[in-house]
Amino acid sequence: MEYVQFGTSEFKVSRMGLGCMSMSGVYGPADDNESIATLHQAFDLGINFIDTSASYGSGHNHELIAKALKGRRERIVIHSKSGSPRAPDASGMRSGSTPEYLTQNCEQSVKRLGIDCLDIFCMSRVDPNIPVEESVGAMAQLVQRGLTRYVGLSEASAMSINRARKVHPIVSLQMEYSLWSRDPEAGNIAACREFNMGFMAYSPLGRGFFAGAVHDVKDMTDGDGRSNHPRFQPENLARNLKLLGQFEAFAQEKTATPAQLALAWLLAQGNDIIPIPSNKTRRHLEENIRATDIRLSKDDLARLDQIFPPGAAAGPRTKDLHRVNV
Ligand SMILES: NC(=O)c1ccc[n+]([C@@H]2O[C@H](COP(=O)([O-])OP(=O)(O)OC[C@H]3O[C@@H](n4cnc5c(N)ncnc54)[C@H](OP(=O)(O)O)[C@@H]3O)[C@@H](O)[C@H]2O)c1
Repeated sequence: MEYVQFGTSEFKVSRMGLGCMSMSGVYGPADDNESIATLHQAFDLGINFIDTSASYGSGHNHELIAKALKGRRERIVIHSKSGSPRAPDASGMRSGSTPEYLTQNCEQSVKRLGIDCLDIFCMSRVDPNIPVEESVGAMAQLVQRGLTRYVGLSEASAMSINRARKVHPIVSLQMEYSLWSRDPEAGNIAACREFNMGFMAYSPLGRGFFAGAVHDVKDMTDGDGRSNHPRFQPENLARNLKLLGQFEAFAQEKTATPAQLALAWLLAQGNDIIPIPSNKTRRHLEENIRATDIRLSKDDLARLDQIFPPGAAAGPRTKDLHRVNV
């Protein structure tokens, strides 16, 4: 495994991280024993960077990770997000950016993870109604109290990053990035490079789409969050699957699996782009980690651009477009 400097932090992180969201049943049922075995396997194979959130399984994810970290905490960099819960009223608006929420969330996250201090505490969404300076000011106090080493943002625009970093250094940005979600290319990655921040690519497999996990709406079991996602609605899915067919054929040509090819594309976007695929089984983890051995040529990258040109996906990347890239 190759390791790279993560922004201005003291961390050298593995070229690929591990997203833990699917271990809490977001894309169908998960088995805790297999999830813990997957985390251990990831650590043994050299992954030292994990992503979680207080919201995944309403605390289940943190408690699961706490079990897996026993005796290994020192070697692992933990990036934990605050979550952005929906208001209980009819508006259904997402927030999670008030100083009170962030403070309480970080205190609880540390407790549930069974650790003294997070490595990176990340605000899941910038709330357009709350000045980012206010939110980040509260996060800076959490650093002073020793509850987190660094502060990160998720789905923040270049403008928000620039405002936030005047209050406290922002170590990283996490944003959706994959062959079918290329928004970060419009300025977020450039901002990270300008300010020497780490960049984490979430949903790098298009929520399993590029791994061939959903070839039919019937592949989504009850409780699978993708059944509400715009790109997995029957009409959009059918259009997206037409493009996937060409992608899968190209993967075969490259003697890679589709998941490996999707991850290799992200790895080829720069040494500072860290994909964090979700894996809740050792089988998928072992397959995906081999993407770090694949080198794509300029021609390969051009071919992938041809198969999946920016904007080609049918359907927006989220239902909550007003809460991303804010
Ligand atoms: N900041 C944010 O707002 C945000 C939002 C979403 C996600 N995230 C983070 O990003 C991480 C990854 O995103 P994601 O989970 O949405 O999407 P993803 O990594 O693009 O896709 C995950 C899905 O693909 C499946 N998969 C992975 N490898 C596979 C393989 N080789 N063959 C077949 N299926 C495979 C997984 O199944 P198995 O689990 O069964 O392997 C899972 O259902 C999450 O864990 C979370 O940490 C952050």
